[in-house]
Amino acid sequence: MPLTAIRYVRKMRGGAQAHLLEVDDGHWYVVKFRNNPQHRRILVNELAASALLGYLKIAVPETALIQIPASFLEANPEVHLTLGTRQVAVEPGWHFGSRYPGDPGRTAVYDFLPDSLLPKVANLDDFRAILVFDKWAANADGRQCVFYRAMLRQSEGAQPGFVARMIDHGFAFNGPNWDFPDSPLQGLYARRQVYEDVRSLDDFQPWLDQVRHFPEEVMDLAWKSIPPDWVEGEEFELEQVLERLFERRKRVPDLIAACREARANPFPNWK
Ligand SMILES: Nc1ncnc2c1ncn2[C@@H]1O[C@H](COP(=O)(O)OP(=O)(O)OP(=O)(O)O)[C@@H](O)[C@H]1O
Ligand SMILES: [Mg+2]
Repeated sequence: MPLTAIRYVRKMRGGAQAHLLEVDDGHWYVVKFRNNPQHRRILVNELAASALLGYLKIAVPETALIQIPASFLEANPEVHLTLGTRQVAVEPGWHFGSRYPGDPGRTAVYDFLPDSLLPKVANLDDFRAILVFDKWAANADGRQCVFYRAMLRQSEGAQPGFVARMIDHGFAFNGPNWDFPDSPLQGLYARRQVYEDVRSLDDFQPWLDQVRHFPEEVMDLAWKSIPPDWVEGEEFELEQVLERLFERRKRVPDLIAACREARANPFPNWK
């Protein structure tokens, strides 16, 4: 079912100038526009990453293509981009949406949690999982996620806690550069407490094996999921970047191990 934006909620922070919009599937999405100030390729990276992360079953928001009709833009002049002092119109058409976890009027989403609350996050494992992806994809941004409150099922009954969802894959494949420069600190989450349990490469399983044997068909599906007008004129470059990604699968264990060579080793318990 094609999804169409029906209501503007608010502008989000960040360099891509995403906007939170209500969509006609009954959900809200943080939408990055095709003509965002970062680059058109940011959207391609988000959508391709979403297909790969879905296969790896890493905790990410649902993503979707969102149609923004000219009539919506006319009725909602708040939806625009700002370049310096200039106001730039959003182009009608297909854009990238990352689903907000719930109703933004009722569900609070946090960009950061203090260290003292991190142990209450149900899925801290996902920080190790996503590091495998970030190294594989040469994500040039620090790791980013959102947290929201949830009741967690535990042996002593339901307890209040938090769930993390990994977001912002615009700078996978080195953002608009579509290449793979590797460096030890790249892709790490700023709160190193999430890596406390890391004692060896085995702590990055099963994701290391899943990447090593990543199916070519899923890469193909990722390629095919991209709307043609997002890659017009650079179809070959996209094919190349995905081919290089496929070739890099076997290098990920070395890239993870290389984090320990950084001046501040993020894995102090890996002896
Ligand atoms: N699925 C989501 N659910 C709730 N909030 C989200 C979601 N996706 C993004 N956000 C919020 O929107 C903000 C901007 O998103 P994101 O970091 O992807 O954009 P960006 O413009 O690329 O940012 P940056 O400046 O870090 O490159 C995030 O800080 C987060 O608060
Ligand atoms: Mg961001």
